[in-house]
Amino acid sequence: MRQKIVAGNWKMHKNAEETEDLLNDLIDKLPNDIEAQIIVAPTFVNLSSAVDHLEFTNIGVAAQNMHQNESGAYTGEISAAMLKSIGVNIVILGHSERRAYFHETDTILAQKVTTALKHDMTIIFCFGEELKDRQNKQHFNVVENQLRDGLFHIENKDWEQIVLAYEPVWAIGTGETASPDQAQEMHEFIRETIRKRFGSDVAEDVSILYGGSVKPDNAKEIFSKPDVDGGLIGGAALKADDFAAIVNSI
Ligand code: G3P
Repeated sequence: MRQKIVAGNWKMHKNAEETEDLLNDLIDKLPNDIEAQIIVAPTFVNLSSAVDHLEFTNIGVAAQNMHQNESGAYTGEISAAMLKSIGVNIVILGHSERRAYFHETDTILAQKVTTALKHDMTIIFCFGEELKDRQNKQHFNVVENQLRDGLFHIENKDWEQIVLAYEPVWAIGTGETASPDQAQEMHEFIRETIRKRFGSDVAEDVSILYGGSVKPDNAKEIFSKPDVDGGLIGGAALKADDFAAIVNSI
């Protein structure tokens, strides 16, 4: 079933002590009686402690990435099995920063999706156009291609493990949030694209999150749109009051 989700992508922020402090603050400030799923994604080195810290809460823990291979000579990389071994069952894949800075292609991401599914992980699959794509009116084509090349090899049954996160690159970290109508327009297109390939049941049940400068003062209007099922939050996730305000907007 389609679920409301608010996930915080901490990126490369918070050391071990800062992570513990923020988690304690979040436990104190986040609601513990809402239907929406709340997820935080600390850095790799803090995942295990975060899983332990949040064990008896309604807050889930996600990794920000993983390697597509099961094991091997990949210095600095982390495998799905390693994440599962510390109780991490959710992974963010395809973030624009991974695509841009670490050259993760659609082909590599398709392999990561296959591996994460094989390990029964839930995937928050990120995609979104760059400013030049939108200016050239190619944003729908870009998004459709990213979905097709990264995800369309999976089967209908796999979609129970997929959460989509539309993150227009030009809105990430810039303060230039997509307008609620822009978000709804693209989310509606995404859902229709899924419907054409996988049918109405899959399209209606998949959660589509918006990411890109979601803040306490804009979250409610964005989340109110019919095809927006929540948000993937960056900067605002690092401040307990802001993240709690966004969660309370869902
Ligand atoms: O993954 C979420 C992130 O890319 C959004 O960042 O700082 O614009 O909320 P931010």
